[in-house]
Amino acid sequence: MKINGKYRPFDAVPMTTRDWPSKTITKAPIWCSVDLRDGNQALVNPMTVEQKLEFFDILVKIGFKEIEVGFPSASETEFTFMRRLIEENHVPDDVTLQVLCQAREHLIKRTFESLKGCKKAIFHLYNSTSPAQRKYTFNKSKEEIKQIAIDGIRCVKSCLSMSEGTDIRLEYSPESFSTTEIDYALEVCEAVVKEWGNAASDDKHKVILNLPTTVECALPNQFADQIEYFCKHISNRDKLIISLHNHNDRGESVAQCELGLLAGADRVEGCLFGNGERTGNLDIVNVGMNMYTQGVDPELDFTDMPMLIESYTRLTGMDIHPRTPYSGELVFTAFSGSHQDAIRKGMAARVNMDENAYWDVPYLTFDPHDIGRQYEGIIRINSQSGKGGAAYVLEHDFGICAPKSMHPAIGKVVQKAADELQRELQPKEVYDLFEKTWLSSKEPLNVIEISERHLEGERGMEDNEQVAGMATVQWEGKQYAIAAQGNGPLDAFVTALKQIPAPKFNITSFHEHSIGEGSDTKAIAYVQITKENGDQVWGVGKSSNVGRAGIAAVVSAINFKG
Ligand code: KIV
Ligand code: ZN
Repeated sequence: MKINGKYRPFDAVPMTTRDWPSKTITKAPIWCSVDLRDGNQALVNPMTVEQKLEFFDILVKIGFKEIEVGFPSASETEFTFMRRLIEENHVPDDVTLQVLCQAREHLIKRTFESLKGCKKAIFHLYNSTSPAQRKYTFNKSKEEIKQIAIDGIRCVKSCLSMSEGTDIRLEYSPESFSTTEIDYALEVCEAVVKEWGNAASDDKHKVILNLPTTVECALPNQFADQIEYFCKHISNRDKLIISLHNHNDRGESVAQCELGLLAGADRVEGCLFGNGERTGNLDIVNVGMNMYTQGVDPELDFTDMPMLIESYTRLTGMDIHPRTPYSGELVFTAFSGSHQDAIRKGMAARVNMDENAYWDVPYLTFDPHDIGRQYEGIIRINSQSGKGGAAYVLEHDFGICAPKSMHPAIGKVVQKAADELQRELQPKEVYDLFEKTWLSSKEPLNVIEISERHLEGERGMEDNEQVAGMATVQWEGKQYAIAAQGNGPLDAFVTALKQIPAPKFNITSFHEHSIGEGSDTKAIAYVQITKENGDQVWGVGKSSNVGRAGIAAVVSAINFKG
């Protein structure tokens, strides 16, 4: 793309030293969900009151203690929602409702009407302060814009008497903070806090100064500088709560929020799964889970992620991209063969570990169980998958523990099918392929009847057992009666097979295990034969009789079409 005069680098805050780079996140911030306001206003079809009520209950369940429920003066729906929350007692005692309002008198009064009977509320007042907004939207000077904020605060103060019995705190946002000159943003916020005065005096009623990246326009480190500069220059910092409200225009909202926390912010506003205007608000699930997977309690509960995803998509009509961190459908799915193999080994090792042992499974950043997801979906099979993936699915989903040396053969069959279909294979399809390839082939060799007679020695003791085996088999459509002696039924059958014109072979590997439970338990045998020309093929047999499983595996190997 050709660089032109339309764009230029962000004007960084004048800082030469900063503290945030050497800090780390050690505790959860105060969270505030703005799903029902910022998220909702960005929907093609905003939620109905009933839908918002259901969403509110979910937010409470997750553990949000501050929830921006809307813009009650903006529409009847918003006002009604607020009234229903209060009148129908939806709000637990430890949850504070937050209402957004522009710094305009009639809107402030209407918002206060919506608050009647509410126990605890945050009155969130905002006006825009950036040069572009001052110039184009308002055509006002810096002084005039500051005056809008001061007048707004004065009006809120004068309305406090309308809401007796409601414990009210103030939040003020210099909207478009991210593009506002930092010293001017400070000047406006200082004026706001001064105007609010004593109403902000105790620890439980600290003024919240919310610093939105209404439009995200800087690098995360530049944003961190903005926040650290603000925190270091605002008066009475310890009597204030500094809040972040990141949007995601550059796709950096999570990084900006995290660095903003390092830079001194106490509070974070955002939405589940990053819903919100344009490219969205900050994805609170992402930031919370980032903390969790670093061993920091996010104080939000995402243990039932499938429920959250189902409710969110149903209520908002939005999708979650399959590759979204933590919540996307493919988060635990590996298509690459080497990844699948490493995951399978890492997961297998955990079977013998304490359930809270340090999580170090390759390619899986965290345990799917922690968010209510299953291991089943971890490995999916497509043409990129190697031997390990198909073997994992067969073992994990169907109890078929094929020997490691057979994995390449399984992988080849599955990969070929995925290539032909040009799509991912479901676990059942992997099983069906396995079944069709190894467990049900009757061509060119088919055993019609088989029996054996024990001759001498202890049954099952290979060293001295002697068995006479008889069978009627079909080879390439022709029937043969064959018989031979051996040190067991399998040995007798293999020797008898020399009587038909099938290729000659030796058994070079044999494995078996039981499969199923109770009266349904069967034996499954895996046999590798080496033919006279050196070709090695695998066969699999399943039977309620151990000896027969081995014989079926030999037949399967002979019939194998690679
Ligand atoms: O993004 C924004 O600036 C806002 C404000 C109203 C806080 O949503
Ligand atoms: Zn916003």
